[in-house]
Amino acid sequence: MKKINWCVIGAGGIADRRGIPALLQDLSSRITAVMDMNAEVAKAVAEKYGIERYYSDEREMLESEKPDAVYIATPVKVHVQQAMLALSFGAHVFMEKPIAMNAGEAKKLLDAFSKKGKQLTIGYMMGYHSLHKKARNMIEKGRIGQITSVRMFFSCWYPEIKGAWRQKKALGGGGCIMDLAVHCMELFSKVTGDEIASCRSFYSTETFGYEVEDSAVIAFRSAAGTQGVIQVNFNIPDDCAVSRLEIYGTRGSMVLTGTLGQEDCGKMQFISSAQTDYEAAQVRSTVKPVNYYAKGKNLYLEQFADFTKLLLSGKTDYSNAVRAMKIQETCDEIYKTGM
Ligand SMILES: NC(=O)c1ccc[n+]([C@@H]2O[C@H](COP(=O)([O-])OP(=O)(O)OC[C@H]3O[C@@H](n4cnc5c(N)ncnc54)[C@H](O)[C@@H]3O)[C@@H](O)[C@H]2O)c1
Repeated sequence: MKKINWCVIGAGGIADRRGIPALLQDLSSRITAVMDMNAEVAKAVAEKYGIERYYSDEREMLESEKPDAVYIATPVKVHVQQAMLALSFGAHVFMEKPIAMNAGEAKKLLDAFSKKGKQLTIGYMMGYHSLHKKARNMIEKGRIGQITSVRMFFSCWYPEIKGAWRQKKALGGGGCIMDLAVHCMELFSKVTGDEIASCRSFYSTETFGYEVEDSAVIAFRSAAGTQGVIQVNFNIPDDCAVSRLEIYGTRGSMVLTGTLGQEDCGKMQFISSAQTDYEAAQVRSTVKPVNYYAKGKNLYLEQFADFTKLLLSGKTDYSNAVRAMKIQETCDEIYKTGM
């Protein structure tokens, strides 16, 4: 069986925790080398996973290894330059979200990849969650009718950390919007098949001493006319937060709790309704919800398996990267007009 030869740029962080272990499980993938600007990290990760070679310079790695594909998991500021470098060596790129610092950068990147016929995919893995796929499937079958309202809540506890790139606007592009809200925007599109058309927002740094936002609320309208709200925070302890994705329609609703994150966990409560007449008594005790539970799959393995399958088919598909670029357009709009 043909295998895709991979190199990794930015081997510490999420690559070490999730990306590399998942890639090693993908039967169509082989990692020949890892690179990190911190040579000790590169060496430690290579040794941990039994990867033959490691580097602290990405150009040197690409020249020596000539990989089929590169997995980039570095701070947002360097995404575009590193993806362009990988492309100049003829490699396909799978890069962690968000695609770039802004939509202008993202567009240039996308144009360059499509011009050379190389695949560019951004790691928005939450669409691979078993309950998000189930929700998508049920929506496609019309189980909740016309979608009228969507609410999403996603948070993590992210206090000041010395040297953290995510806490500097010039390195991460922003705070909880660039880090968490982008996942919500992507998921909204993936699950509903719709996209955000316009938005209004509030964002601010309420709790911590860093310059990027730790709190944001984004109200939006979709292309199909659905109204929605995305709320993201860096200042709620992990133990007391439950992510929420609530989708309400004219024939039913889906409330997913604990499903946004790095694992395939949480539950979905589905309610179907045949209501047509106005119910003055507003009796709600007769409702019988159906609960669905997550299947515990590896979201990162699923996204890489999809990517390698595409590469092995010899085709390209830029739909994910186009969505990632549109998400950056929305972020640009939020940072420009938000209060
Ligand atoms: N999809 C997800 O689940 C998920 C989760 C976390 C982070 N991310 C994304 O992954 C990317 C990395 O985030 P992280 O949390 O792993 O950050 P991190 O700071 O924890 O790790 C980044 C790694 O890259 C290295 N690095 C930094 N600059 C580099 C450079 N110029 N060249 C090579 N290596 C460099 C660092 O030494 C470090 O080992 C970001 O785009 C982030 O948004 C995605």
